[in-house]
Amino acid sequence: MIKAIYPGTFDPVTYGHIDIIERASRLVDELVVGVLINNKKSPMFTTEERVEMIKHVTADLPNVKVVSFDGLLVDFAKQEGARSIVRGLRSVTDFDYELQNVQTNRILNADVDTIFLTASLEYSYLSSSVVREVAAFGGDLTAFVPEYIKAKLIDRIKEMNK
Ligand code: COA
Repeated sequence: MIKAIYPGTFDPVTYGHIDIIERASRLVDELVVGVLINNKKSPMFTTEERVEMIKHVTADLPNVKVVSFDGLLVDFAKQEGARSIVRGLRSVTDFDYELQNVQTNRILNADVDTIFLTASLEYSYLSSSVVREVAAFGGDLTAFVPEYIKAKLIDRIKEMNK
């Protein structure tokens, strides 16, 4: 059984991530979306919320599982019995950053390899922070996230502005 991990912060999940999830899920028997319990960033959504939102928008993909993780990515991959990590590449800048991560992960565990999927052109500019910023200023989120995520973002911004 071919199993891969797609890790990230997903604060929140966007069409860019969903594009990678859909395409990666067609390449493997099981894709585990790993939501990082990220202490470095201060997420707008809790880990549980981020997991729930990804589950909701990937409900039509039966071989996709969504779980949270903490600690090293290679340890999470080992725990899940996965030998591949999937990452999306939007630009050369992503590549520089990813190369450093891949080399580190290879030293930490040479049994785990990383597969890169280039982001679809229409999402190559997209990031979660751009989405959060557009939401904060009341901009139209239709092109960036599904309706379900859009509603969550609008509610969260309202709560934050109270
Ligand atoms: N479409 C849209 N946005 C994308 C994207 C895509 N295809 N790919 C990346 N992004 C965006 C994210 O939304 C995020 O946006 P933001 O920073 O504006 O919020 C940004 O690019 C960073 O990507 P993200 O997926 O959140 O990953 P990350 O860089 O925060 O974390 C991990 C990557 C989880 C793989 C890494 O932090 C990790 O492995 N952590 C565990 C600790 C570890 O093992 N460290 C050793 C390895 S060096």
